[in-house]
Amino acid sequence: MNNIKDYVNFSQKKILLRLDLNVPLKNGIITDETRIDKILPIINFLIKRDSKIIILSHVGRPNGKIDNNLSLKPICENLEKKINRKIPLISRDVFKIKKEDLFKEPNDQIISLENIRFYKEEEKNDASFAKHLAGLADLYVNDAFSCSHRSHASVNKITEFLPSFAGLQLETEISALKKVTTEIKRPITCIIGGSKISTKIGIIKNLLPKFDNIIIVGAMANNLIEFHGNQIGKSIKEQNCSEIIKEIFDTSKKYSCKITFPQDVLVGKSFFDKSNIKELNDIKDDDLILDIGPKTIDTIKKIIEVSKTILWNGPAGYFENSNFAIGSHEIAKMIVRNKSIYSVVGGGDTIAVINQTNDTKNFNFVSTAGGAFLEYLEGKELPGIKALF
Ligand code: 3PG
Repeated sequence: MNNIKDYVNFSQKKILLRLDLNVPLKNGIITDETRIDKILPIINFLIKRDSKIIILSHVGRPNGKIDNNLSLKPICENLEKKINRKIPLISRDVFKIKKEDLFKEPNDQIISLENIRFYKEEEKNDASFAKHLAGLADLYVNDAFSCSHRSHASVNKITEFLPSFAGLQLETEISALKKVTTEIKRPITCIIGGSKISTKIGIIKNLLPKFDNIIIVGAMANNLIEFHGNQIGKSIKEQNCSEIIKEIFDTSKKYSCKITFPQDVLVGKSFFDKSNIKELNDIKDDDLILDIGPKTIDTIKKIIEVSKTILWNGPAGYFENSNFAIGSHEIAKMIVRNKSIYSVVGGGDTIAVINQTNDTKNFNFVSTAGGAFLEYLEGKELPGIKALF
């Protein structure tokens, strides 16, 4: 992999820097800044070497359309304060921008393009889009490990048109995960939660041979609860999953990997409601499952106690409402309490959870990546990483 640390001739070079600034936002306010803090080293590294930085990032899933709620504006403003420099946000149509339009003022050193997912070409890994982006710069740096599992134009295709390098954070994440996966101690427990069911459900089957326990919480657990014949009311779920869930349970037997999913839950009538403990056979049509219940927490505790390694991605519930943050907070506390466990946590929302409980420093490794973290554990070659070789 070509590493940016090995490059020498930086001065005045225009660098397209792919970052993952996909931070949690609530009414335009950033609720967790970890992903921004993690990219400060690469920004400072490039600034010190007198290069010109063009930030490329997505936030959220605008599906190829402009969505002002998913602008990079609040994120650029936050980053401006952290590095004490102006970062003009270029909102105009990227197809109309030429290389010579950028950095007109001699003191301009860092600019940002608007959310790259406002362009439908991004997620299609479109070659002419990637080529146009590449035409704005002299070099490309990927410091977004957490979206390197996406075959998208600014992550993958672009590397065909520019000399391309791995950034500092990307390298740190890969080295740490490589170490984790080669020196791993059994029993290994993987806890998977969060709301991105479609990203994760297909991965579980491939993880089964590698782990002793897989604990499924968060939105994906709703599909499992329903699969076992229970009502899940208005809860979030993925459509047409029963085949894959059946395969997951069949495969788990083959590899003696125990799958655990909620046996009781906390429900509300809306995301902003107070919580109500429910047995699985008592969930009503207008209930939303938003967290795991006390019996489930107890079961998870017993599994954690006998684990030597824990890999955790995805909260157990809708932790943004403190009434439904109990499961996620309890999981964090149970893991860090036992000092003999080697613990790795990954993903923007999971980091937000452990920041809430002040436990970030108590985990052995904290990865910014969620989906990419799971795909890496699965042993997959990530398209954004492969493209850097
Ligand atoms: C993440 O938050 O895991 C990355 O930013 C990727 O986001 P995505 O799942 O929307 O591609």
